[in-house]
Amino acid sequence: MSGGNLPPAAARALLEWQIAMGADEAIGEIAVDRLAPPPLSRQIPPPSPPPQVGEGQSGYPPRDKEGGNVGTPNIVAPPAALVESLAEAAQSARLLAAKAGTIEALGEIVAAFDLCPLKRTATTTVFMDGNPAARIMIVGEAPGAEEDRQGKPFVGRAGQLLDRMLAAIELDRSKVQITNVIYWRPPGNRKPTSAEIASCLPFVLRHIALARPRVLVLAGGTAASALLPTGEGITRLRGRWFDLAVPGLDKPVPTLPMFHPAFLLRTPERKREAWRDLLALKARLDQPG
Ligand code: URA
Repeated sequence: MSGGNLPPAAARALLEWQIAMGADEAIGEIAVDRLAPPPLSRQIPPPSPPPQVGEGQSGYPPRDKEGGNVGTPNIVAPPAALVESLAEAAQSARLLAAKAGTIEALGEIVAAFDLCPLKRTATTTVFMDGNPAARIMIVGEAPGAEEDRQGKPFVGRAGQLLDRMLAAIELDRSKVQITNVIYWRPPGNRKPTSAEIASCLPFVLRHIALARPRVLVLAGGTAASALLPTGEGITRLRGRWFDLAVPGLDKPVPTLPMFHPAFLLRTPERKREAWRDLLALKARLDQPG
């Protein structure tokens, strides 16, 4: 605003009023359109397109031998800094996991691990529940809201169904140990990303090695795809036995993927298949050894 043709006293009064209102800068006579594009000479170049990769690749920017990005754009990649920090997290998790000599020590290492970004938004670390000496191990996806509140896996509605499924084959939490492929609740219960899973996986594998389970149950597609490199979905995997090679174990672990209890709550017509899988699990456990 300018004083225009005001008498000096009025112009001064106006200026003093403007200063009292917080104006701290003199501006020109001609109004500035701040929404107009800047003159060509000052234009900032448009952002270059995000790094992308070709179909069938990892989802990360393809790299040439020197580490520079190459390749045909088609899938948007996550920010390189995040990818690199998650890769470092996985590397650090591998070194730390190897130091754990007991499941309890592993739990303490996991609780102190700060490199998985999900930890920042979660309330608690959810490591395991059940009996650390049990030789039946169940691995699920990630904590939900109730698990995040209580610090224990599978204590919400899906967990209650899991307890009923176990009871149907004469098992309970004193006879199994339960964990997840992720120890911190993803915001809004979203699916964990493969990089987040990779940052926790060394701990999960170490837990399996320390537990030396007779059987391992993978509850749901996320746990199955994290531990079984078949590329198949849970509908195809469930009910089939796999021999999972785990670093530190001299024998592979008989592993049974099953539907996740949360999926069964949403899709009760699939409980028939889950019942069949539970019977297969019981038959295996009834075998000597
Ligand atoms: N779903 C999971 O996969 N894990 C939990 O701990 C709870 C719900």
